Amino acid sequence: MVATSLYRNEQYFARPLEYLPERWLRSNTTATENPPKEEAVRALRTSNPLIFLSFGVGPRVCLGRRVSELELELGIARLVRNFQIEFHHPVDKPFKSLFVNMPNMPLKFKFSDIV
Ligand code: HEM
Repeated sequence: MVATSLYRNEQYFARPLEYLPERWLRSNTTATENPPKEEAVRALRTSNPLIFLSFGVGPRVCLGRRVSELELELGIARLVRNFQIEFHHPVDKPFKSLFVNMPNMPLKFKFSDIV
């Protein structure tokens, strides 16, 4: 079974077709001012921790995992710190699945300097 079809399977993810990013929050997060309740987040998490493995698992796990995650976190943090980011375009079918998921629409974000 293709991994992306597992992400849409109710057996593994509650409300799989909804955009609910809080399902990825770690426990005891203090990153937001009003964090969602732990029980609510737990109910959204996957029932199987081996479902989402972008970097593999076990003795052959990706050696660059920590570096890549750090780079992504720092990059996104710099963007949201420095810009108000808006997107005023249709978001129907936002991805297409090739070997990996690809954007299926022009990424016409509007970045405005935060003063
Ligand atoms: C978003 C970025 C990356 C993703 C999604 C990714 C994903 C993966 C995956 C799925 C594997 C196979 C794991 C397995 O066999 O179970 C792997 C292996 C590996 N990755 Fe990455 N990787 C990324 C970035 C990097 C970077 C930046 C480096 C180097 C600095 C790196 C070095 C390696 C190495 C050396 C292996 C082989 C580990 C082994 O077989 O012992 N990766 N990666």
